[in-house]
Amino acid sequence: MKFGRNDSCWCGSGKKYKACHADFDAKLADYKRRGVIVPKHKLLKTPAQLEGIRKAGKLNTEILDMVGENIRAGMSTEEINALVHEYTVTHGGIPAPLNYNGFPKSVCTSVNDVICHGIPAADEILKEGDIINVDVTTILDGFYADASRMFCIGEVSEEAKRLVEVTKESVDLALKEVKPWGFLGDIGAVISEYIYAHGYTVLHDIGGHGVGNEFHEDPYVCHIGKRGTGMLLVPGMVFTIEPMVNAGEEDFFQDADNGWTIYTEDGSLSAQWEYTVAVTEDGAEVLTH
Ligand code: MF3
Ligand code: CO
Ligand code: CO
Repeated sequence: MKFGRNDSCWCGSGKKYKACHADFDAKLADYKRRGVIVPKHKLLKTPAQLEGIRKAGKLNTEILDMVGENIRAGMSTEEINALVHEYTVTHGGIPAPLNYNGFPKSVCTSVNDVICHGIPAADEILKEGDIINVDVTTILDGFYADASRMFCIGEVSEEAKRLVEVTKESVDLALKEVKPWGFLGDIGAVISEYIYAHGYTVLHDIGGHGVGNEFHEDPYVCHIGKRGTGMLLVPGMVFTIEPMVNAGEEDFFQDADNGWTIYTEDGSLSAQWEYTVAVTEDGAEVLTH
């Protein structure tokens, strides 16, 4: 046995192992024997880490709120970048995208047929009728929180509005599936069923991820899935749910010049919503909005 029953628990609670995660580990071992994918201990956040991620999430939410108050037609996506950067650093944070694998800006701004990883630019001006995803990831005291929202610029088409709404609804439905002893596949099942029922598609190959101690951790959160499959959900896991939903086909391509920006192949509109969520003892805690 790895931990003496009287040793202090690996989870960081300070309690004795036998009074803390001993039964949990036995249960996990049992699932594993039956062929279920179970998370490694290192994916489970300690109470102190969770508190750190919660604080990063609060700042991240404030930043998105601030973007919502300022975003308007006539503004460039570079101005959004400047606002996000400035707000983040003046509140003690670090914008995680900046220099992440060479990403050149502090936020991703994805307009209309851009699915994700849009790079803010001074010559990209928002106009009435555009839809835009603003994806903010904040590092605070070493902890990461990641979330994105859609913004409609002025009056947008009924079609665009519906796409944005349905995408948000799919994430809200998925949040109800986040609970201990559920499965990652439950999340993908709910999202893909809902999205397909509305005649849209959802990306299979780009999805959510563990987050908190780093920007991208295990597991990969696929938004297409089957109930009762994939990794077991247990308290202490923290990951994002962030479906990318296309009005047309699922196919996409990457910008060959910048190596980042992902577009819909058919030029159709794309929407995305992202939250960072923790699995708790009795359900979920949404750490960003
Ligand atoms: N925020 C994105 C996500 O949800 C990742 C962006 S990577 C970047 O995972 F480098 F483009 F910022
Ligand atoms: Co993410
Ligand atoms: Co993100």
